[in-house]
Amino acid sequence: MANNMSSSLVFLSLLFLLFQRLLSNSEGDALIAFKNRVSDPGNNLGSWDPSLVTPCTWFHVTCDDNDVNVIRLDLGLFNLSGTLAPELGQLPYLQYLELFGNSLSGNIPQELGNLNSLISMDLYDNQLEGNIPASFGNLKSLKFLRVNDNKLAGIIPREVLDLNLQVFNYSNTNLRKPTVASNFESFPMESFANNKFGGKRD
Ligand SMILES: *[C@@H]1O[C@H](CO)[C@@H](O)[C@H](O)[C@H]1NC(C)=O
Ligand SMILES: *[C@@H]1O[C@H](CO)[C@@H](O)[C@H](O)[C@H]1NC(C)=O
Repeated sequence: MANNMSSSLVFLSLLFLLFQRLLSNSEGDALIAFKNRVSDPGNNLGSWDPSLVTPCTWFHVTCDDNDVNVIRLDLGLFNLSGTLAPELGQLPYLQYLELFGNSLSGNIPQELGNLNSLISMDLYDNQLEGNIPASFGNLKSLKFLRVNDNKLAGIIPREVLDLNLQVFNYSNTNLRKPTVASNFESFPMESFANNKFGGKRD
């Protein structure tokens, strides 16, 4: 009898967990974490209601054809200020992250390097600081990376430069490419004077 009871309890707990899982949505949670960190004076995120089962009906959020997974976030030019929530990295199907033309500040979270499906990341024209995280080297689908017009600074990580990007705009920032092998720079000029090119001179 006692045994029967405990197995029914186990069954009920599993059922409860299953319902919880169906009712909560990790992508919606990630977006609410983002919303909670920004100030949104125009109430552009007003339709982001965490009590809805999925975020697919929220404005400026686009899901795939099955209305299951978030594939686009279009939040450009919304007067948003605040910092970027690391939870944004928990959107594994996201292809377009459009946050340009706001007043977002702080660092770019390294967690954004988990966005495996990302094709385009537009962070330009904000107040972001620090460097581009080396974790961006994992963004193998990324084609467009625009971080121009921010307060970003430092030597761009090799991992980022090695990406196969079609567009990488970092103008109007203090980001710079690493200089070519520093050994080469300190190479004595005399070695050039004596090589075969030097010998051609009159
Ligand atoms: C952003 O702020 C400006 C000035 O306050 C306002 O005119 C504009 O409508 C706002 N844009 C949005 C999308 O909320
Ligand atoms: C890169 O950003 C600069 C500064 O905002 C802009 O003038 C330029 O047109 C951009 N270039 C590309 C290729 O998007």
